Order: sequence, then C-alpha cells, then structure tokens
Amino acid sequence: MTTTQDAPRTTPEVGGLGHSRKRVEDARFIEGRGNYVDDIILPGMLHMAIHRSPLAHARILSIDTSEAEAVEGVIAVVTGELLAGYNLAWMPTMSGDTQAVLATDKVRFQGQEIAAVIATDRYIAQDAADRIQVEYEDLEPIVTPQRSLESDAPIIRDDKEGQDSNLVYEWESGDKAATDAVFAKADRVVKLDTFYPRSHPAPLETCGIVADVNSATGQATLYMTSQAPHAHRTVFALVAGLAEQNIRIISPDLGGGFGNKVPVYPGYVVATAASLVIGQPVKWVETRTENLISTGFGRDYHMHGELAVTNEGKILGLKVEMLSDQGAFFSDAQPTKFKAGLFHIVTGSYDYPVAHISTKGAYTNKAPGGVAYRCSFRVTEASYLIERLVQNAAYELGIDPAEFRMKNFIKKDQFPYLSPTGFVYDSGDYEGALKLALEMVGYDEIQKEKEEARKEGKLVGIGIASFTEVVGAGHGDDYDILGLRMFDSAELRIHPTGKAILKLGVKSQGQGHETTFAQIVAEELGIPSSDIKVVEGDTDNTPYGLGTYASRSTPVAGAATAMISRSIRAKAKKIAAHLLEASEDDLEWEVGKFYVKGDPESSVTIQDIAFAAYTNVPEGLEAGLEGVNYYDPPNMTYPFGSYIVVVDLDPGTGQWKVRRMVAVDDCGVKINPMIVEGQIHGGLTEGYAMSSMQHISFDDAGNCIGSTFMDYLVPTAWETPRFELGETVTPSPHHPIGAKGVGESATVGSPAAYVNAVIDALSHLGITNIDMPVSADRVWAAMKDSGQE
Ligand code: CDP
Repeated sequence: MTTTQDAPRTTPEVGGLGHSRKRVEDARFIEGRGNYVDDIILPGMLHMAIHRSPLAHARILSIDTSEAEAVEGVIAVVTGELLAGYNLAWMPTMSGDTQAVLATDKVRFQGQEIAAVIATDRYIAQDAADRIQVEYEDLEPIVTPQRSLESDAPIIRDDKEGQDSNLVYEWESGDKAATDAVFAKADRVVKLDTFYPRSHPAPLETCGIVADVNSATGQATLYMTSQAPHAHRTVFALVAGLAEQNIRIISPDLGGGFGNKVPVYPGYVVATAASLVIGQPVKWVETRTENLISTGFGRDYHMHGELAVTNEGKILGLKVEMLSDQGAFFSDAQPTKFKAGLFHIVTGSYDYPVAHISTKGAYTNKAPGGVAYRCSFRVTEASYLIERLVQNAAYELGIDPAEFRMKNFIKKDQFPYLSPTGFVYDSGDYEGALKLALEMVGYDEIQKEKEEARKEGKLVGIGIASFTEVVGAGHGDDYDILGLRMFDSAELRIHPTGKAILKLGVKSQGQGHETTFAQIVAEELGIPSSDIKVVEGDTDNTPYGLGTYASRSTPVAGAATAMISRSIRAKAKKIAAHLLEASEDDLEWEVGKFYVKGDPESSVTIQDIAFAAYTNVPEGLEAGLEGVNYYDPPNMTYPFGSYIVVVDLDPGTGQWKVRRMVAVDDCGVKINPMIVEGQIHGGLTEGYAMSSMQHISFDDAGNCIGSTFMDYLVPTAWETPRFELGETVTPSPHHPIGAKGVGESATVGSPAAYVNAVIDALSHLGITNIDMPVSADRVWAAMKDSGQE
C-alpha cells in the first residue's frame, strides 16, 4: 500500500503545506529583473582578470608582469609574491586543507591562478593578463589517483611540511572482522570495479565577486556567488584577518549553484585584497572556461565493491574499497569527521548485518573539488555502486532484479533502522516505492514486449534502480564544517499589520526558498504566504547558518522556521487570552485564529494579535512578535525512491534511447509539490546527462578535455526524455513537519539511480561490462565483447 499526502489543511489563499504555490521569485527572473553579481555596478569599480597556468604540474621559475603593467588602463598586477607580503598567498579550505591563492612555487593543475590584473575595464584586464610571461620547469603531471599513490610519484603538495606522499586522507567505516567472517562463509561473492567519472555542476551563472572595501571605515562589503555566505564570512575573517563584524557578504540572486558555489575561490580573495589595497571596488566574474577548468567539480570516485550473497538471493554483507581523485587541493566543504563525505550510505536500501568500507583520497594535478553536486556529500557515488552490485548479483543468480530487491529491502516495520555503517534511517517504504514504479511502467507487459521485439531483431531493455540517500546535515555533534556545527536558523518578525519577514541562514540558488519557506510559516500561523517576505544571503541581515548544499535547507532551516513559528504562536496565545479576556487553557487554535473552546464566535485572528503585540500587550509581556530559532536536527533525513527505464537499443550501431522513464520518489511531506517536481526533473536530467552526454576527462599531460560547452554538453529540453513521476509519502518522524530534503544540490531525482537504471537496462540485454559514459561507441564495443554484434 502506498501513501499519498493528506489534502492541504489551509486554503489556497493562505497557501500552507501541500499547495503548489507558484514561485514568487520567478516574476523578477522572467522579466529580467533579477540581481546577480554581474549586475552590480558600483561607482569607481575596477575589473579583475586572472592569468592561469596552461600546465598541470610545473615549477615556476619566473613571472614577468612588466608588459601587463604597461598596458594603458591597468591599475595593478597582483602576484603570489605580493600577496605573501600580506600573508595571503595561501588560504585555508573548507575541508581544513590549504590552497594557493596565487601560485608562487609551483602550478599544480591546468587553470590554476598565477596572477591577477586590475584594470579600468574588463577587456583591458584580460588583455593585460594574457601578456604576463611565466617561465616554467616541467614536472611529471599526475592524472590518476592510482599513479598518485605509487611510491615513486612526485609529491604534488611539497608545500606542506611533512607531506611525504600524495595521500589526502584514509578513512574507514563498519566492522572489518565481522564482514570478513561473513564473506568467508558466503555461497557467492559478486565483485565489481567501477568508476563514477568527474563531472562539473556547470551552473549557468559562473562564480564572481564585487569586493568593496572602504579603507576609511574598514567595512568590507562583498557581493559574492556564495551558497554559504555566513561560513564564507568566517573563513574570510580567518584568511584576511579582517574583523568579522566588518565583513558583510551579500549573496544576491544566484543562477544555480549545485555545490559549485560552496568552496572559497582564489578570485574572491584576490579581488578583496585588491579592493583593500587600491581603495576602490573590484569586480571579478569568471568566464565559462575558467569555471569549467578551475572550480569545484563533482564525483571522480574509483570503486571496488563486493557483495556476499546466498544462492537463494539473500545479501549477507558488503565490502568496498574506494579511491577518490581530489585534485591538487582538498577544498570541497564536507563534515570534518567524514573524509569521504557520507559515502558510507553505500549499504543502500537493503537489510544485511555487516559492511566494511575503506576509502582513500589522493592529490592529483587536476582542479580541486568533489562538491556535493545533486546529492548530499558523495551520496550519488555510493548509491551508484550498491545498485550496480545489486543488479549484477541478480543477473549472476538468475533472479529477476525486482524480485531480488524486494527480497532484500529493509522492511517498513524495521524503521528506525541502524545501518551496518552507523546511520539510523528514519523511515521508509522501499517495497511500496518499487511496487508503484513496477505498476506504473507495466513491468510484466514490457518483459513480454521485450521477447517479441527480440524476435524481430530489436532490442528493448528494462532497468531498475532503488536508492536511499542521507540529507539534511547535522546533528552538530557529528556534522560540522571546520568545527562550525551544522545547525541552521530562522528569524521571524511579524509586523503590526500582520505581515511578516522571515530571515534565513541558508541561501537559495534556484530552489524556490522565497516561495516554500513562506508556506511553512503560513501553515504554522495562518498568515497568508503572500504576506511573508523571505530574506536570505545577507550576513548583516540574517541569522548565522551553514548554508544551502547537500539538501539541507528544508530539513534544517525549514525545521527552524516551523519551530520559531510555533514559539511565536505560543506568545500569540498569551496575547489572544488577554484580548478575549479568557484563560490560555480555554483557547483553541485553528489555522490563523484562537477562539474560546465551545464558543467559536469569540475569536481573534493572528492579524489582530499582531496589532495588539505592538499596541495592547498584557502586563508583564514584552511587546513585539518576533524571534529566532537555531535548529540542530536530532538526525539526518533519508529520502528514497525507485526508478525504472525502458531503453530501445539499435543492435546495428549501439545507439540507445530512453523510451520511458518512471521515477517514484519519497521526500516525506512535501511543502510545495510543484517545486518538488521541478527538483526531481532537475536531478533526472543530470542523470540523463551523465549517462549519455557529459564527461570531463584529462589527457596524459593533464589537459582538461571538457573546458567549453562544445565539449561538455548540458542537456536541453530537446533531448531530455519525458519523465513519468510517481510518489509515496513517508514522513520523517523527527522532523517538525515530516519533510525530508530534496534540493538542487541534492537528492530525490537521483542522478545515480537514473544512470543505474540505464546501465541495468543494457545489462538486461546481456551487455554487462559497460560503465559511464554510456555512449553508443562504448555500447557497441561492449556488445562486440559479449559476442552480440
Ligand atoms: O537545501 P536545498 O534547498 O537544496 O534543498 P531542500 O530545501 O531540501 O529542497 C529544495 C526545495 O524543495 C525547497 O524550496 C524546499 O522547500 C522544497 N521542498 C518541498 O517543497 N518539500 C520537501 N519535502 C522538501 C523540499
């Protein structure tokens, strides 16, 4: 039995939970009235361009800036040597590593920042930057993590004292001895080596900053493409030694983020330092190629997995070894206790007692990154591996993959479920989601159709993937970034006329927070959502928060919003009792008003109460109706789903096409079903892109292949398949409104599951040795290998 969401409790005018309220932010975007970093123009503003390394690994012998300095309109040329004078040549990263701001000793990836030109005009700045001459001595470029960890590999981070290898981290989870014991007795062990290739979030708006440091007041106002403005402000205070209260980060409208706007980039730091020294505002906005070659990528995990199973098809345990390619600096933000992100969710949706995960990260001569791109920290990679293993196990045992999954799923009554790597899954109905997907696609009919098609020489494959993700980081005891606990915050002020302003510590990059967070307040207080303005992304004007990535806004700041609304309702009740001359105990709440029990006519609305809060408060009660909540969630939330794709494969060419794509997702209670649908479409489109058209690779010299949108393809509505969506609704028991996260940089609409389903569909056709990217030529080669030509 699958569940659907209850009908909304509020009217469409109030627009609380469950209403598909239209996105309020879209009016300004559609009219071209958004305010992005590049739209900001300040009096006296200068422009910055960066000179970048053409080589992946080389020693810098000399930097000659004289020709650049001579260009008319150039105000300054900044090098690492100059920054070193201010102790700014290196900066800390969000993972506690260090990163060169401008290279002084060596370049460590193609596209690394070496010098910056500040000029009166952007074109002058770029032309001058191109005239900087750098003399290099070539060093061996390390382009794979496997080579990186060989004992004779050159040390990439020779800047770090005591660094005698290219190992970034080593980390394990689960019980090795217990897992080995189970594997020793298993009927069969299914093994797989696979690679989730590097991809790039490629937000339509690239990264940038307008830095405005006022030398008279010491105030630094930084308009920045930031998914985490408060955390960035703290890092800036630490890097630049500026007093935190004098740094104001304003993250205006963002044209997508997907994790790419979480790291602190050298360009931000150089522009700020330049503004500080020159005394004028400085703007820096990346080009597309700069964004693709030098900013936070996603994935790049090499994985070996083993699944122990019985001949009857019961999973007994899992072993995983993972090697991640981190690039030249470890700079993605992730919880400090979890070096490989939350990869240990790799045990997936299945019930078995033991697992052991061992992971290593390696420095390579590539751009740094590994950001939470359309998943919580490294959850996509985990989800991909377990589903590949599960589908291979089903095929090896000759069991239908749907049946195999059903047999091994964690059952509905087993929640809360303690996974072998220590997560406590909050709630789930995995069978319900897969059953619904099978029904929607017509699984049995398609199996028959497949056989018929084969007789006519056509190939139809059907592929399944199920997933469980882990989103909504904290709790703060376990999850922190650089020691900052991963709570989040909401401040709500209700004004005398009953209109409200909600201020958040998170920051939307397209997820529609201005629409949905107002709906949470509307649900809790009955104030129409159209009467609530949502403010984010200004550190002077919002409470401290850790930001938006890894699908954490709704589980954490959404919870903070519900909690502050509830505490304001408690104060409102006192005012209502005063206005109605009744005891608080005699009052009942109904959306938007308090009334006296048994006498519904004796009532006051939330708007009456708001007015009274400033004009007629009972004695002993403070005036006003506002407050702030810092919410540290007791646990993460665990959204899940099941996907099925039907693929037509041309046996003559290896070309394949998704004919049907059914996605059943469960993100608990939905605040806004239309927005959730949009998030799912986004995630599925990313999965489609990864499976069929997106790939960043490097040649042996470390040149990035995929540095323009001609090489790195972004799917459009033209080629993206149609998605058929289904839902189950399994609330999170500990979340104040039962929601689980979904986000732009996040989970449901799982890209991994989409890729899994495509690969599974091909496996179904006997093409079992295929990996990403699933291009026609590779499918064709795999068909040849399996004798299917
Ligand atoms: O952190 P991020 O904004 O990426 O993720 P999120 O807040 O979990 O979800 C993105 C959008 O979907 C927000 O506008 C949420 O309010 C909305 N959402 C929803 O309507 N219902 C849910 N159960 C979860 C998210």
